[in-house]
Amino acid sequence: MRRLVLAVLLAVAAAAALAGTVAARPAFACAPRGPAASLPFCRQSLPLRARARDFVSRLTRAEKVRLLVNNAAGVPRLGVAGYEWWSEALHGVSDTGPGVRFGGAFPGATAFPQVIGAAASFNASLWELVGRAVSDEARAMYNGGRAGLTFWSPNVNIFRDPRWGRGQETPGEDPAVAARYAAAYVRGLQQPYGGRHGRARLKLAACCKHFTAYDLDSWGGTDRFHFNAVVSPQDLEDTFNVPFRACVAEGRAASVMCSYNQVNGVPTCADEGFLRGTIRGKWGLEGYIVSDCDSVDVFYRDQHYTRTTEDAVAATLRAGLDLDCGPFLAQYTESAVAQRKVSDADIDAAVTNTVTVQMRLGMFDGDPAAQPFGHLGPRDVCTPAHQELALEAARQTVVLLKNHRGKHRAVLPLAPAAHRAIAVVGPHAEATVAMIGNYAGKACRYTTPLQGIGRYAQTVHQAGCTDVACQGNQPIAAAVDAARRADATIVVAGLDQKVEAEGLDRTSLLLPGRQAELISAVAKASKGPVILVLLSGGPIDIAFAQNDRRIAGILWAGYPGQAGGQAIADVIFGQHNPGGKLPVTWYPQDYLHKVPMTNMEMRANPARGYPGRTYRFYTGPTIHPFGHGLSYTQFTHSLAHAPAQLTVQLSGHHASAFSGASLVNATRPVRAVRVAHARCDGLTIPVHVDVRNVGDRDGAHTVLVYHAAPQAAGTAGAPARQLVAFEKVHVPAGSVARVEMGIDVCDGLSVADRNGVRRIPVGEHSLMIGELTHSVTLGVEQLGV
Ligand SMILES: *[C@@H]1O[C@H](CO)[C@@H](O)[C@H](O)[C@H]1NC(C)=O
Ligand SMILES: *[C@@H]1O[C@H](CO)[C@@H](O)[C@H](O)[C@H]1NC(C)=O
Repeated sequence: MRRLVLAVLLAVAAAAALAGTVAARPAFACAPRGPAASLPFCRQSLPLRARARDFVSRLTRAEKVRLLVNNAAGVPRLGVAGYEWWSEALHGVSDTGPGVRFGGAFPGATAFPQVIGAAASFNASLWELVGRAVSDEARAMYNGGRAGLTFWSPNVNIFRDPRWGRGQETPGEDPAVAARYAAAYVRGLQQPYGGRHGRARLKLAACCKHFTAYDLDSWGGTDRFHFNAVVSPQDLEDTFNVPFRACVAEGRAASVMCSYNQVNGVPTCADEGFLRGTIRGKWGLEGYIVSDCDSVDVFYRDQHYTRTTEDAVAATLRAGLDLDCGPFLAQYTESAVAQRKVSDADIDAAVTNTVTVQMRLGMFDGDPAAQPFGHLGPRDVCTPAHQELALEAARQTVVLLKNHRGKHRAVLPLAPAAHRAIAVVGPHAEATVAMIGNYAGKACRYTTPLQGIGRYAQTVHQAGCTDVACQGNQPIAAAVDAARRADATIVVAGLDQKVEAEGLDRTSLLLPGRQAELISAVAKASKGPVILVLLSGGPIDIAFAQNDRRIAGILWAGYPGQAGGQAIADVIFGQHNPGGKLPVTWYPQDYLHKVPMTNMEMRANPARGYPGRTYRFYTGPTIHPFGHGLSYTQFTHSLAHAPAQLTVQLSGHHASAFSGASLVNATRPVRAVRVAHARCDGLTIPVHVDVRNVGDRDGAHTVLVYHAAPQAAGTAGAPARQLVAFEKVHVPAGSVARVEMGIDVCDGLSVADRNGVRRIPVGEHSLMIGELTHSVTLGVEQLGV
C-alpha cells in the first residue's frame, strides 16, 4: 500500500518536472495521513517544547543516537524523514555543505559580496536586507528539495590577524561592527514570527560560528585542529566573545557552533563553562549547539583530550553539545551509555534542543506547501530584485583608498567621454568565481570588471599576469604596450582562494608573485591616468602603489560578488559615489615579523616588543587605518546634541553597598561601577550629529563614534579608542542630514578589567566623531549615602 502511494507520488513528480514546474517536497514529518498525524508531537496547538518532549519520549535509544549527527536518520515508523542539518548561506545560498545541491530548477543563487566587503558598507540595513533575500532563496530551495532549513552562517569570529585565510568570511576586526553585523544578518535570515524569543517560528535557522577565539587555520606548523588559543579573560570579554553575544542575545540565532581549537587548554566543544555557562546561561541561547565538522573526533584523535571515544562523547554532551557535525556521536554514544559515561537524559536533552528548532521551522507541521513561505519556488531565486540588491551591495563594498588631486580636480571619477580607449590589465580583469570568494554557491550570472568597464568605454584587454600567483614567464610586456597606447589604464589585481582560504593562511601581506612589478611597469608606461583595483579579503601592503604618483587612484572591492565588475565600473566612472570604509587595519609587511600568529593577545606589550592588534590596541604605522575610505565629495560633522553629564544608578542592594574603588591604579584610584551592579535598562546617551556635504556630489557617509575611557583606566588595558556607534547616511550635495544615535552606557562606556569583568569608569569619558571630541562626565548616584 505504501509502496503504491510512493509510486504515484513519483509519477506526479515526474509529470511536474516535465511540465517545467517543481515537485513539491513531501512533508518532513506529520503528514496529514501519516502514521503520527494524531500524536501530540504533531499537534500544532500544543507548546513547542511539549511537542518536542513527546516526540523524544517515543524514540528508542538507537533512534535518538542517530539524531545526534548532521546526517540524521529518519524514523519511518513515526513518519519522520531523514534530515541533513548542514547547509550554508554566508553571502548567498552556498553548496559548501551537503545540505544544498544546485541543479534542476535551481541552477544557481544570487551571490552577494563576500562578508568582509559587505562589512565595508557599514550599513546595517543592507546586512539585514541581504539576509532576507538569501532567506527567500534558501526557503525556495528547501521547498524544491534542494536545501535544508538550518544554515551554518554567519561566521562572526574577529579578524584578529591579517594573514587569516578565513578573515574574508568575517565582518572584520572590530567587535562592535561584528556584533551589529551578526545581529542584523541573523535577523534577516531567520525572520522570526508568531511568538517571542524561543517560541517564535523561524523562516530559517542561522548559526553563529565558530565559538570562540578561532582565527588561525594553518601557520608556522600549527593548524586549527591542534591549536590551543591562550586567551586572557579580558580579551575574551571585550573582543572574541562580543559578536557571539550579540548574535545570540540580540540576533536570537537558533544555533551556535563550537570550534576546532582549544581555549586555554580545553576544546571549545568540551567546555561546559562556555556552552552551558556562557552561551545558554548568560546569553540565553534558545536553540542548539553544533560542533564544527568532526570537532569531536578532532579533540579525541588529534588533541588526545580524552582517553577513549566514550569519554569524548561524555565530555561534549555534558558540556552542552546537541549536534555533532560528523559521525562520532552516532558511533560511540550507545557504548558511552553502556559504560555509564552519559545517561539517556543527556541524550534526550540534546535531541529535544534540535527537534525544537525543527518544530520552530515548521518541519513537524505537515505539508510544506501549505505553510508560510510554502509559496516560494524557483521564481524567487535570482530575481531581478535580488540581483539588483547584489549590485547595490557591491557598490557599497567599494572603498576608495587613494584619489590623487591634480591641479584642477581629483583624477577619479573618470569622465567616460574623455577616455576613448581604456587598457584593462591584471589577473582579475576577467574575474568571475574569484569575485564570490569562499563559502559561495553558483552565481546567477557574472559581470566581470572588463565587461563592467566596457559599458562605459572602449577597452583593450591585456592580462599582464595570467593568474593571481603571477610566477615565472608572464605577458607583462604586452600589458605595458597596451597601457602606453591607451587613454587610461585600469589594473585589476589582488588575491584569490589559492592565496587565502580555509586551511590556508597567508605568509606575506604583499601582492603575490610579479603583480607589483606589473603594476609599476604599467604605471610607468601609461600615457593616461592609472587606476588600481584590488580584490582581496585580507589587507595588502601596497605601499609601493600608494607612493607611486603615477598611480592616481586605488580602490579595494573585497570579493564583490556576482555583480562586482559592474559596481567597480560604476564607481570608477562616477555613477556611484563610493562610501565604503576599511573594516580592518592594513598593516605594513614588517608587522608580521613582530607578531606570531599564534599569539592571541590583543593588547600591546611594549616590554616584549609586541605591538598589539587592530586599531584598538596597535598604534604603529599602517598602510591604511581601520575606517579609512574616501568619497568624491567632502563631509563635515557638528554635534547637534549630546549630554555633558550622566548619572549611573546602582541596582538593588548594591545601591547602599557601593564603596567606589574598583579599577585601582596605585597612584590614582579610579572609581568604577560593575556593569552587573548598575541599572542598565534603557540607559543610553543620545548622540545627534549633523553631517554636512560640503562638496559638489551627493554621497553616503558613515558617522563613526569612538569612545575613550577616563585616562587612568587605560592602565587597566582599556583600548585607546573603541567604536561604540556608527550610522550611515545619504547626504545630497550642499545639504545637511542629522544622524541620531544612542550609545548603550553599560555596553559602550564600560571596559573589561583583567578578569574580564565589565566596569563603567566614573569620570570624564570622551566621544570622538571625526574631527570632534565631546566629553561626558559620568557620576554615580549613591542611594542611602
Ligand atoms: C596610574 O595612573 C597614572 C596617571 O594616569 C599613570 O602615570 C601610572 O602609570 C598608573 N599606574 C599604574 C600602576 O598603572
Ligand atoms: C543602506 O543600504 C540600503 C540597501 O541597499 C540602501 O537602500 C540605503 O540607501 C543604504 N544607506 C545609505 C546611507 O547608503
